[in-house]
Amino acid sequence: MEFLKLILFALLLSSSAVPILSYSHFSPVDHYLVDCGSTLKSTVDHRIFLSDSSPSNSPFLTAPHSFSLRNEHPFEGLPPIYSSARVFEAPSKYEFQIRDKGTHMVRLHFQTFSSSNLDLIRAQFHVLVNGYVILSNFSGVSAVNPRIKEFLIWIGTETLEITFVPVKKSNLAFVNAIEVISAPKDLVADTAKYLSYEHSGVVDGLSKQGLEVLYRVNVGGPKVTPFNDSFWRTWLPDDEHFESIWGSKKVYSTGRMKYQAGGASREVGPDNVYNSARVIQSTNSSVPNMNMTWTFPVIDGYNYIVRLHFCDIASISIGFLFFNIYVNGYMAYENFDLSSATNWELSSPFYVDFMVNGGQGGVLRIGIGSSNQSVPYAVDGLLNGIEIMKLNNSLGSFDGSLSAEMVLKGCRGYTVNLVPYVVILCLIVSVSLMLRRKVIGRDESFSWSKLPVVDSWRDKSSMGVDNH
Ligand SMILES: *[C@@H]1O[C@H](CO)[C@@H](O)[C@H](O)[C@H]1NC(C)=O
Ligand SMILES: *[C@@H]1O[C@H](CO)[C@@H](O)[C@H](O)[C@H]1NC(C)=O
Ligand SMILES: *[C@@H]1O[C@H](CO)[C@@H](O)[C@H](O)[C@H]1NC(C)=O
Ligand SMILES: *[C@@H]1O[C@H](CO)[C@@H](O)[C@H](O)[C@H]1NC(C)=O
Ligand SMILES: *[C@@H]1O[C@H](CO)[C@@H](O)[C@H](O)[C@H]1NC(C)=O
Ligand SMILES: *[C@@H]1O[C@H](CO)[C@@H](O)[C@H](O)[C@H]1NC(C)=O
Repeated sequence: MEFLKLILFALLLSSSAVPILSYSHFSPVDHYLVDCGSTLKSTVDHRIFLSDSSPSNSPFLTAPHSFSLRNEHPFEGLPPIYSSARVFEAPSKYEFQIRDKGTHMVRLHFQTFSSSNLDLIRAQFHVLVNGYVILSNFSGVSAVNPRIKEFLIWIGTETLEITFVPVKKSNLAFVNAIEVISAPKDLVADTAKYLSYEHSGVVDGLSKQGLEVLYRVNVGGPKVTPFNDSFWRTWLPDDEHFESIWGSKKVYSTGRMKYQAGGASREVGPDNVYNSARVIQSTNSSVPNMNMTWTFPVIDGYNYIVRLHFCDIASISIGFLFFNIYVNGYMAYENFDLSSATNWELSSPFYVDFMVNGGQGGVLRIGIGSSNQSVPYAVDGLLNGIEIMKLNNSLGSFDGSLSAEMVLKGCRGYTVNLVPYVVILCLIVSVSLMLRRKVIGRDESFSWSKLPVVDSWRDKSSMGVDNH
């Protein structure tokens, strides 16, 4: 009897252990969630944001003229982090201890409101993170619609500093909540395929750059909230970016995604993104000659990383899916063979990164089209997710032509002598041009790298290794 019980117990253990192992949760070393200007902690989707005024709390706030502001009439339906703000009347900074060097996600939340004769809509300010200008001349909008800004920044120092610098004429800056989280090691790939008019090739060194996440879209599926994302991201439906045309359809899978070593890990993209897609499908003997197209407004003058997520949840069998990938009108891949890239596994998540220089007339276009190897009676094009990230300019800014140094000098009221800045600017521009020449090889034969042949996607330890 005891023996039977033991066996039963062991069986129970093993059966419950399998899903726990393969659904292992990402646990970041640095993980700060701050509810700014609040006196109590608040909980959003099971995540606890601590007050920035409790002395025991970890970020160190240096704010000579700051106070907390509460919204006496909190907006209905908005999480509690938006009903308070910390307001700064002079340059101020939060310092976060960094224990895990590498890329960190910095996410700032802004929701304007008015309270005790102060309207946050008046605020205008710059925000710096360790020498980067992440926001410049920023101000909130009056709508009940929080503005959330997200950056992925490589931190090689022991502290991460977020500095708020009010613009002179407003003398007011604010923030409602801050998240600083160490990113999964495989989140930012080091190389991407560079597409441009003059030359295409491979660009590397990307993992140590700063990125602003502009768009994160779940193609063909619903909104994915931080609650359902392994790295607490939000993925929006693609409808407003998709140029709807007849001939494509949405597909959805309820099966398990087969994450493989070297492909996308669950932290790169969650099941909820890979289990939906839009496809081009031929139902008869002729392959439709068509593209699915998505467009995203962007600002010219910056480089962008475009990450496309693929997972073949639509084909009945492997080896029949071939399609073309276009980014900004460039043929990014012709006859892309997803089956071969994923070691002949269906439902296996995969992604590719491209770098492009700006948009075309302020718009970045992504196309998936049938190719001349597409097979009749099969899926002839597929896409599951899109991410668009902006790289900082040569001044270290994501938002205009001021460097962090200029922002800080300007606010101390120094007389601005332009000559040294022009010299520095020329230097930086020429150095960055040289760097770019160096990084961009002329290798035209850059191809998607296949996953290493190990059938070990069930093995927890094999997840999250990126061989791109
Ligand atoms: C999480 O995803 C499931 C479906 O996968 C959905 O039913 C649920 O509403 C989602 N939860 C949140 C908080 O988004
Ligand atoms: C194949 O199907 C498409 C759309 O379903 C249709 O427009 C086309 O005429 C068909 N072609 C043939 C050869 O039947
Ligand atoms: C698909 O898009 C590419 C790039 O914009 C274009 O060159 C090609 O002609 C398009 N194909 C079709 C069938 O519209
Ligand atoms: C189709 O295949 C041929 C032969 O590989 C190639 O020359 C042609 O450029 C391909 N692409 C298109 C869009 O026709
Ligand atoms: C981005 O900013 C960093 C830090 O200022 C700088 O080292 C890097 O060269 C910039 N990137 C580009 C593409 O100019
Ligand atoms: C910020 O706005 C001021 C005027 O409001 C303008 O002179 C300045 O160039 C702007 N700075 C940036 C970086 O856009």
